Amino acid sequence: MKITVIQGPNLNMLGIREQKIYGGMKLEQIHSQMRDVAKQSGFEIEFFQSNFEGEIVDKIQECYGESDGIIINPAAYTHTSIAIRDAISAINIPTVEVHISNIYRREEFRQKSLIAPVVAGQIAGFGPFTYHLAMVAMIQILTEMKAIQQQKKIEK
Ligand code: DQA
Repeated sequence: MKITVIQGPNLNMLGIREQKIYGGMKLEQIHSQMRDVAKQSGFEIEFFQSNFEGEIVDKIQECYGESDGIIINPAAYTHTSIAIRDAISAINIPTVEVHISNIYRREEFRQKSLIAPVVAGQIAGFGPFTYHLAMVAMIQILTEMKAIQQQKKIEK
């Protein structure tokens, strides 16, 4: 089973940008830890980062029939993008929304996520460790899905 990790705008600047808010880890380091967890648990994983809304929509659409779960940090598009929300709704693949910072204790414009109503769950506020928590959640979701699929096979 395959997990796709999608990172939105400016997340390529982690380790440089606003370290007090986002911590000092670089995106590659976060991805390397996620890759280790995926490997240990027997899941395939791929990573994608873009600063462009349309490219993120394209990537979500590509996941249809190709990936079993999505972990996404839509970054600033969280608060503005109906297109990303619609893409997630369209493909109907279990999706976990991640935010490094606790968006609910920041500026008012960050306190609303257009994405949250169409995902399985949202995890926010634990710094770079939030991605690890999202991996744990995604592995749980996919393991349950696998068990249900196997049960259905037995019943046939
Ligand atoms: C973010 C929060 C967003 O408000 C912000 O625009 C980001 C990162 C987070 O991970 O905390 O770029 O998604």
